[in-house]
Amino acid sequence: MIRTPQVIDFFCGAGGFSEGFRQQGFDVVMGIDNWPVAIKTHNLNHNLTDQVKDVLDFGSSIDEINKLPDTEIIVGSPPCVLFSLSNKGGKADKTLGIDLIISFLRVVAVKKHQPASKLVAWFMENVPNSKKSINPTYTFRELKLEEWATNHKIDPDEIALKGSENGNILNTADFGTSQKRERFVCGEIVSTGKFPDLTAFISKKHRSIGEIKRKMPAPNIGCSKQVYTDPNYSFLKFTAEDITDHFYDSGIYESQWKDALAAKQNHPYMGKMSIPENEDKPSRTIMATRSASTREALIYKSEYDRKGDGEYRLPTIREIATLMGFPYSYQFSGGENNKWRQIGNAVCPHLSSALAKSVRLSMRLQIIHDSEIKFNLLSKEIPDITNLNTFSEAKFDKPPQKNPKAKFRRHPFKDGNMTVALTNFNPKAPASTAEKEIKWCSSVFLGAGKDFKIKSIRKSGYRRLARLIKSQHRTQGTKFINEFDKRFEKAIGNTHKFQDAYVGRDISETFEPRRLIEDIGQFILQNEPEEKQMIIPNLIPGKERIPTRQVFAMYAINRIIS
Ligand SMILES: C[S@@+](CC[C@H](N)C(=O)[O-])C[C@H]1O[C@@H](n2cnc3c(N)ncnc32)[C@H](O)[C@@H]1O
Repeated sequence: MIRTPQVIDFFCGAGGFSEGFRQQGFDVVMGIDNWPVAIKTHNLNHNLTDQVKDVLDFGSSIDEINKLPDTEIIVGSPPCVLFSLSNKGGKADKTLGIDLIISFLRVVAVKKHQPASKLVAWFMENVPNSKKSINPTYTFRELKLEEWATNHKIDPDEIALKGSENGNILNTADFGTSQKRERFVCGEIVSTGKFPDLTAFISKKHRSIGEIKRKMPAPNIGCSKQVYTDPNYSFLKFTAEDITDHFYDSGIYESQWKDALAAKQNHPYMGKMSIPENEDKPSRTIMATRSASTREALIYKSEYDRKGDGEYRLPTIREIATLMGFPYSYQFSGGENNKWRQIGNAVCPHLSSALAKSVRLSMRLQIIHDSEIKFNLLSKEIPDITNLNTFSEAKFDKPPQKNPKAKFRRHPFKDGNMTVALTNFNPKAPASTAEKEIKWCSSVFLGAGKDFKIKSIRKSGYRRLARLIKSQHRTQGTKFINEFDKRFEKAIGNTHKFQDAYVGRDISETFEPRRLIEDIGQFILQNEPEEKQMIIPNLIPGKERIPTRQVFAMYAINRIIS
């Protein structure tokens, strides 16, 4: 009898890659990962007992490779952080990432070329940026297999595997996941030597966040026996009380969502993003780090009727798992941040299923239809697994504390291809000095791209600015200056109190610099004259016409730090 085709999953993490193959009837026989939390999740959902293991071990030892079971399928998704654009501006050291890829491909090459090989297909997944670091092809020598090749009477300079040449950038939203997530996937169906054509598995329509959320119970309802259909699997039904990691209050503090708001809607050089998320579209990519205050943060309106703290919330763990395509039956080990990391790291099961279907077809096996998928229904109480459900509302009494030296940079508005910013570091100083001392500065950032120019406004530069404003806008300018000085009297010259207020050591709102910049912006917009531009030679190099509100902002920000 032909055995059920087996899969070994390298860098298995929580097991998104495994899950797509499992749903398509493959037998996941081993997961390899060096992170205990992830191995625990993988073991639990795939009925395995694997121990943590370093993939680099296979880079140095053929014995280690020979000890691995011979499976029909090998999949692997090496850690993408080493190739992510966000990592050190894309300049991170990629050596470890490449070593991990080579160690993985070495296993694939041995399993493919060994006598009586069982290998039917292999796949490797990573972020799109990794494509540049993957060779189009790999010889045995390049995979450090020259001795192995010679022993097997193969020329070490022969191509062992195709790399980036045999791959595509795929968007998981095309395969039914309600998330735009682009990933580079390469590999082959061994019998054809090619990456499979997945067009038959592409869905006609992208699914939106709203479509998913409307099918899920709201996270603020009490314990209930109402039955819900899994938004991704219409044949999987769960009573609300059995849905884990969903019924808790993921509300965030006002300071967090305001930071996110500034980063998403008033970024110095990047476009606007909606807050809360636009629920008519698929979700943006779910990142590995759970964050509430950055541009990447996924922010929903809370179901609790609150203003300020808790007005917005992050998705629950079950919501992001569902946006990734994990079924309700899938359980994650660890606390909230570790659960998030495992999910944000994962390969979407829908994408993995499409690959699995292509393998089934190549093996002349029937594709498993949605109604036939078998789910691994785990018991409700699993020892050592924390269910985040609390069924209660959060108290917002522990505001997040920032690093006491946290950097600050904020501007009231963008206009005229420039921003006027308050910073707690000298933006012109080299990064190393800027990190050491807190020095409140006012500067003009010119240009809309990453390569902006900076013009610092020296302390007490506000005097010259006041003269310019008064001379060009006699009545309104004078009124603005007098009223500004009155309104912001307490903040003016008190920069020594700003940092404490910013990092949360002092909860005074008068000196909280984010609040100050917001108030200054509003004050200027309420008091700016009709004339939208001022002509000022010799203030900003190469820029004679300056938006009036930006000149007012230069005055205002320089005034408070003087
Ligand atoms: C992109 S994630 C894998 C996601 C997983 N395939 C899924 O679908 O859920 C990368 C994984 O590689 C693991 N990893 C990183 N370095 C490793 C190493 N040297 N050996 C084994 N695993 C490693 C990480 O712990 C992480 O779980």
